[in-house]
Amino acid sequence: MSKRERVFVTRQIPSPGIELLRSHFEVDIWPDPLPPSREQLQSRAQGVFGLLTLLSDPVDAALMDAAGPSLRGIANYAVGYNNIDVQEANRRSIAVGNTPDALTDATADIAVGLVLAAARHFQESILQVRALEWKTWEPMGLLGLDLKGKTLGILGMGRIGAAVARTMVGGWKMKLLYTSRTDKPQIDSELGGRRVPLEELLSTSDVISIHTDLNPGTKHLIDRDTLSIMKSNAILVNTARGGVIDQEALYDALRAKTIFAAGLDVTDPEPLPNDSRLRELPNCTILPHIGSATFVARNTMSIMAANNLIATLHGQPMPHGVPMPKQS
Ligand code: DGY
Repeated sequence: MSKRERVFVTRQIPSPGIELLRSHFEVDIWPDPLPPSREQLQSRAQGVFGLLTLLSDPVDAALMDAAGPSLRGIANYAVGYNNIDVQEANRRSIAVGNTPDALTDATADIAVGLVLAAARHFQESILQVRALEWKTWEPMGLLGLDLKGKTLGILGMGRIGAAVARTMVGGWKMKLLYTSRTDKPQIDSELGGRRVPLEELLSTSDVISIHTDLNPGTKHLIDRDTLSIMKSNAILVNTARGGVIDQEALYDALRAKTIFAAGLDVTDPEPLPNDSRLRELPNCTILPHIGSATFVARNTMSIMAANNLIATLHGQPMPHGVPMPKQS
């Protein structure tokens, strides 16, 4: 029997993807819930055909060197792939794939949930009940913001942004503004959306939901300057990547109440450091990056990632390959 190629999976992932992989490869799985260190990752990657990585694994030239020339495919178990040096992989003709679509609805649901949590003081309310401080029904207590008919600003109108917009425009009859690299005539006709410049979106939206990828152009897109033009009652939600927001600037804005509240499913770094002052704020709801954490989404992601590596084994393009950047 011919020797089977080996893949290294950097964490336990749902079994449908693992079973698929096992039907084609020798599968080595990192057994711990915490990620392998850089050294451990490099050591386990030696001689593999494929890597199945998470958004928390930096996949750079050093890791590709450690893996050696056998490495032909990297399947990220995420839609975002800012953890991978795609240019370097491209230079070495290593295929790179991700898991688009599988998590669109799951992540959009978390964004909508964070909007509600931020608008209606879920965090303070839950803490009040837990601390046995719920003494009476308060006519003036924990007053929040109404959403109906307000303006929703989607920063980055991709698949997840569109799913959030469908829920919030459909359910709350919100007016829709968005930023995007290209026009979205379908969104305009379906949801009455309008593509606007960033400044207009930030200064006129009541709810701002971030859905851009993280790249040098979007790093700290939300900083002191952009926060300063938001409405004092604005709600800011981020389910994309933590690095899009300058967290120190956000802390100051929330503390000074120059915006109303924020809901974050992503931070920079992750996990949020123990001494992060964002945790102390009553108007900041923080989740531990659970956007895609549903049974269906995570099972589907595991199958997509496995199929990406299997296609590479068969000399075919990955079914969910990421677009290769232009060679510089
Ligand atoms: C992704 O896949 O990029 C998401 O952030 C995971 O929740």
